[in-house]
Amino acid sequence: MTTDGSGDRGAVGGTESGTQSAERVSFTDVRVDEEAVEAAVETLRSGRYVKGPRVETFESAFADATGVDHARAVSSGSAALALALRAVGVGEGDEVFLPGHTFFASAASVLDAGATPVFVDIDPETYTIDPDDLRAAVEASDAPAAVMPVHLYGQMADMHAVGAVADEYDLRVVEDAAQAHGADRDGLSVGDRGDAACFSFYPTKNLTVAGEGGMVVADDGAVADRVARLRDHGRDESGAHVVAALNHRMSEVSAAVGHAELDRLESITAGRRAAALAYDDGLADVDAVRTPVAAAGARHVYHLYVVRVPDRAAFRATLDDCGVDTAVHYETPAHRQPALPDGVGGRDLPETAAAVDEIVSLPMHADLSEAEVDRVCDAVREHYA
Ligand SMILES: Cc1ncc(COP(=O)(O)O)c(C=O)c1O
Repeated sequence: MTTDGSGDRGAVGGTESGTQSAERVSFTDVRVDEEAVEAAVETLRSGRYVKGPRVETFESAFADATGVDHARAVSSGSAALALALRAVGVGEGDEVFLPGHTFFASAASVLDAGATPVFVDIDPETYTIDPDDLRAAVEASDAPAAVMPVHLYGQMADMHAVGAVADEYDLRVVEDAAQAHGADRDGLSVGDRGDAACFSFYPTKNLTVAGEGGMVVADDGAVADRVARLRDHGRDESGAHVVAALNHRMSEVSAAVGHAELDRLESITAGRRAAALAYDDGLADVDAVRTPVAAAGARHVYHLYVVRVPDRAAFRATLDDCGVDTAVHYETPAHRQPALPDGVGGRDLPETAAAVDEIVSLPMHADLSEAEVDRVCDAVREHYA
């Protein structure tokens, strides 16, 4: 299956037989480990399904793994972003700066918090927010409140440069780390520089709860407390509903699975990085293909392996004929989605516009074999022969 512009948002799941199709190189493989299955079954047998100990232990293990003081589990990555924005004080009348080149949830979370998204261009090498364009956008704003760098494809934004702009203009920083579990860059890991950082555990992500889920991490306990309140009907410790909020809690089964998968995050990351290295080698001599650039000092965790080609439709058709699935992340940038009213984000984003016409995501997951990478590279070579 070759997935279209919605990329990893389609129906996902392992094959019935538990093995990969012999013929096709599938885009992703979302199966969790046997230990996660056992943890889920044990939780189901326990009769404790919500508000139990597994969410709390997953949170503390996740905080430890991330090196941030507090973690709060929520129902999705989108919920993590929306609640984190509110928890750091973003609301009505505020402008939040974020890249147009992202999954729409980044922008939707800003709107959900009652604020206005202002879209910023990307660095064409890393596909992450361009700090110079961020500065230009902030300078032109009447109500600058926060920046949401998106660590797209598994590579962190330049958080030193983003942080410098945030300090200068007193912006809150909420990192969208939905695609970047375990990434770091220039001595900073995810969550180090932001007031909060938000992860997704959607099945295709580097770490999953085998369903929907997300996590907010923050060093400031007050931010974590506000997220905890906002995910739980706006209730405080006394049980009073002190703020209007919905239910965005994580279930115990999800937390048990996430915790088990967290134990093997390093090996998941190693598998993804090995596949990326094999692609880099295999495609190095194909001039028409621009392989991903990991910034010096970055540990890219390759949620996606995204190349750029001048003839995307024909390229994807050849790969499809050769039995290789591909996807596009994202064909239509957030600021061009029909949900946004005219005029919102009316800035010019030339690097984003150029990238979205050329990007193609090749198959990527932790268990992608060398033989599969070779098959993809052979198909690419055949296309340009
Ligand atoms: C960059 C980005 N932000 C936010 C999200 C939202 O996460 P979720 O699907 O868990 O709501 C995703 C996930 O698709 C994403 O890729």
